[in-house]
Amino acid sequence: MTDVKSLVSDFLTIDDALTLDGETTKALQLKHLNRLRTLDGHAKYFTRAQGCTFIDENGDKHLDMIGAVGVVTVGNNNDFVWSCLQKCFDSKQFMMGAISYHNVAAALAHNLALLSPQGKLTKVGTATGGAEAIEGMIKMVKLATRNKPEKTHLLATLNAFHGKTSGAVSLGGKDKWRAFQQPTLANIDHIEYGSVAALEAALATGKYKAFVVEPIQGEGGIIVPPEGYLKTARALCDRYDTLLVLDEIQCGAARTGKFWCCEHDDIVPDCIVFAKGLSGGLVPFGGYLCTETLYDAAYGSLETCYHHTATYQENTLSAAAALGALQFILEHDLCGMAQRKGDLMMKRLREVQQRYPDVI
Ligand SMILES: Cc1ncc(COP(=O)(O)O)c(C=O)c1O
Repeated sequence: MTDVKSLVSDFLTIDDALTLDGETTKALQLKHLNRLRTLDGHAKYFTRAQGCTFIDENGDKHLDMIGAVGVVTVGNNNDFVWSCLQKCFDSKQFMMGAISYHNVAAALAHNLALLSPQGKLTKVGTATGGAEAIEGMIKMVKLATRNKPEKTHLLATLNAFHGKTSGAVSLGGKDKWRAFQQPTLANIDHIEYGSVAALEAALATGKYKAFVVEPIQGEGGIIVPPEGYLKTARALCDRYDTLLVLDEIQCGAARTGKFWCCEHDDIVPDCIVFAKGLSGGLVPFGGYLCTETLYDAAYGSLETCYHHTATYQENTLSAAAALGALQFILEHDLCGMAQRKGDLMMKRLREVQQRYPDVI
């Protein structure tokens, strides 16, 4: 072995990286990564994160009020999730699920199916993040409806956010993220979020393969739809032979008091897209859960079963983090905790609202 520094003198090893001083870190980041976004966001240098706390380079503690952007449902650097990753490391097994049998991803898929609404979404597709999971879902829907020539379009909602890859911004309902991306994906229509009338009028045309919607619009401003919206959407999608796809990337994984947000409405969608909190904020992960009928319609033939693959699909480390996060969420009743703390915060905020009605 030749020491890397004798080959590339300025090479930074992992030990160098983990002990870089603040000034060098900032200089390298601004030079090689996204300079403007970092400066515009007044980025801080957090040297540690644990539970609900970030500690910056000066040793000051900050309360994590955003779950590291809706990701750390189980807290920052959750010890249990790290221990699951450590066990995989110790096992030295072959990590790449895409081309072999793989116990951890298989076990995770089994768990996800068990936890799916009424246990009815039993097929799992994986990705390396939310937007890629949305892309996988779009491809699956198109493949599944390929023998229905009357189904030409996808339906989504205004103000929706589904990620920033090309397909995901096309599906999203914000012009801001579609700007400069033309041509976007064709044949996608958007209707007002929460409007049953708009949904029925659109679906009645009979042309939609799927209706894709967030149970709560996240990036759009935490918009909760009128009560019963999802239940009605389920009934309308059934009536007009349209798949119901829920983007639970932000609102799923126990954040609203049920494991899946749609469980508040007691419905079973055809597909749920997940990411973010599902792998505990440590390893990039995402994917979808769907019915066997939908999955088989798309991938149940030798002609189509290779139509959506990716190198890191069903990767063991991602699956282990997700499996650990699921176990932690269940064993610590994080659904119940979200419900209780949500109720408490809402109660207290309403009290503040009464005192300051002009402000809130
Ligand atoms: C509802 C929703 N869908 C999709 C995405 C995209 O996920 P990712 O950032 O992992 O690509 C996000 C991210 O904020 C989201 O909130």
